[in-house]
Order: sequence, then structure tokens, then C-alpha cells
Amino acid sequence: MTAPYDPTLFSGTAAHYLRGRPPYSRSLSEFLATEAHLPGHRALDVGCGPGTVAVDLAPYAAEVVGLDPDGEMLAEAAAYAGRRGVRNVRWLQGRAEDLPALALGRFALVVFAQSFHWTDRESVAEVVYDLLEPGGVIALVSHMVEGRPRLVGPAGAPPIPHDAIKEVIGRYLGPDRRAGQGTVVLPTERYETLFTRTRFGRPRTVYLDGRADLVQSVEDVLASVHSMSYAAPPLFGDRLEAFDADLRALLTSTSPAGTFWDWPGDTEVLLARKPAL
Ligand SMILES: C[S@@+](CC[C@H](N)C(=O)[O-])C[C@H]1O[C@@H](n2cnc3c(N)ncnc32)[C@H](O)[C@@H]1O
Repeated sequence: MTAPYDPTLFSGTAAHYLRGRPPYSRSLSEFLATEAHLPGHRALDVGCGPGTVAVDLAPYAAEVVGLDPDGEMLAEAAAYAGRRGVRNVRWLQGRAEDLPALALGRFALVVFAQSFHWTDRESVAEVVYDLLEPGGVIALVSHMVEGRPRLVGPAGAPPIPHDAIKEVIGRYLGPDRRAGQGTVVLPTERYETLFTRTRFGRPRTVYLDGRADLVQSVEDVLASVHSMSYAAPPLFGDRLEAFDADLRALLTSTSPAGTFWDWPGDTEVLLARKPAL
């Protein structure tokens, strides 16, 4: 079992999310739609955050349900869908663990984009199995730098100094990874291993070309830092301004032009399919 849900886990991050976080591969939605034979069927985006994946999937699906326990995220998601003119997404407040009680019907595709690790993973995978239509697909989406081909960014835009940024965060918040009211040690078990214990069996992993053309300003990088649960603005209390000033100083000294290459890596998609009838 995971620890009980802490509703402050992502407090204050939602407003920074769409500006700061790098998007996934351009081909992600089409790839997922094809794998799940989505046209005419429904998709569920669990831990949808500000609608990153759900809104892009909407044109391929009869309906998308975006589920997230964080009301601020859902408000951002609804506004984002509105700006994009997307009308066939339903936003719902709740946790993955609530899915059996929510009685949402069947889906051809259930996506967790950087959210599965926050859930009670093994039992949630089993719940998703029951929600899927025969032949339906669960997809776990994340960025992956490790082991992927190294690319080179544009001249004058150094990579975001992630290690130095983590050091500054550590100076303010301590060495342990903060999460809401406490700290967290994220699970290290590979999803491949976890899935083999479920009815899905062994999943397959696909890499889609990541975005190599992302350039961020100093303020974009600040937004990306404050979109992280471990650097959520409320965690800094009355030292938030001082933290932001230290971060701006670090970033300006790293890139006098004030631009950074944001290489999030390729988009990793772990896929498992429920057998067709
Ligand atoms: C890192 S964000 C990912 C947002 C979005 N899917 C994306 O890829 O950009 C993780 C999201 O998972 C949500 N989350 C945390 N615990 C959850 C749970 N038990 N069930 C469902 N979602 C959860 C958080 O509220 C947050 O919006």
C-alpha cells in the first residue's frame, strides 16, 4: 500500500505547469490512438494534471475523461481545453484508487503520464485491467534521457543546469525529496517487473522522438522548477522570494543570454494490452 493521499502534494504547482514542463513527443497522441484503435472509443487520462495529454488525445476519441485529485490542476485543464477549443473532455476530481467507485464505464485507452508512481501501482493496474475494453491498452508515459541518444542543443542556449538547481533546492528544503507535508522516496521497482505480477503480463516499451527544439527563458525555467511537487512554491514559505532570486542568479550566470536548451529526452511509452475476446 502507498501512504494515504496528501492533498497538498501538488499545491501551488498547477499555475506553473503548462509554461514550465516540456511537452512530450509530437507523435504521442497519434501513436496512442493507433495502438488503442481509439477513434469512436473512449480514453481515460489518470493524473491528468493540467490536461497535457488529455487535450491532445481528444480529437482522436469519442470522449476523454481527465481524472486528477488536485482541483487546481483540473481548473488549469479546463481552461487549457477551452483555449484549444476542445469540448469532448470531462474533468473529474479523484484518485486512481477511487476508480472502482467512480463507475466510469469502459475505455479503449487508459493513460498515466508521469502519474503512475504516485498511485498504489499494482492494485491500480488491476483496476485499470477491469476498466479496459477487450483489446484495450494501458500506457505509462514519461520523459527518458538515460540511455537515449544524446543530442546537441542550439548555440548560445546551454542545457538547463538541473544538478545545480537541485543543489539550490536542497539548501532551502533539505536533502530529502519533499512531497506535500512530508518527504517521499519514490519506488525504484521497474514497471516491467511490476506488470508481470498483474493480469497484463509483460509490457513492451516504445520510445518516440522527444522535442529537441525547446528553448526556455529564465522565467520559464523558474516555472518548470515550481511545477515540481518537490519544489512547489508553498514549501518555501516566506523564503520563496529569496529562493527565486538565488535561482535567477544561478541561471543568469549559466546563460548570459538568458536562454536554455530544454532537452527532456525521448518520450517513453510502456504499453500493455488486455487480450481481445
Ligand atoms: C507530474 S503530474 C503529471 C501531469 C500530466 N499527466 C502530465 O504528464 O503532464 C502528476 C499528477 O498526478 C496526480 N496524482 C497524484 N496522486 C494521484 C493519484 N493517487 N491518482 C491520480 N492522480 C494522482 C497529481 O495531482 C498530478 O496532477
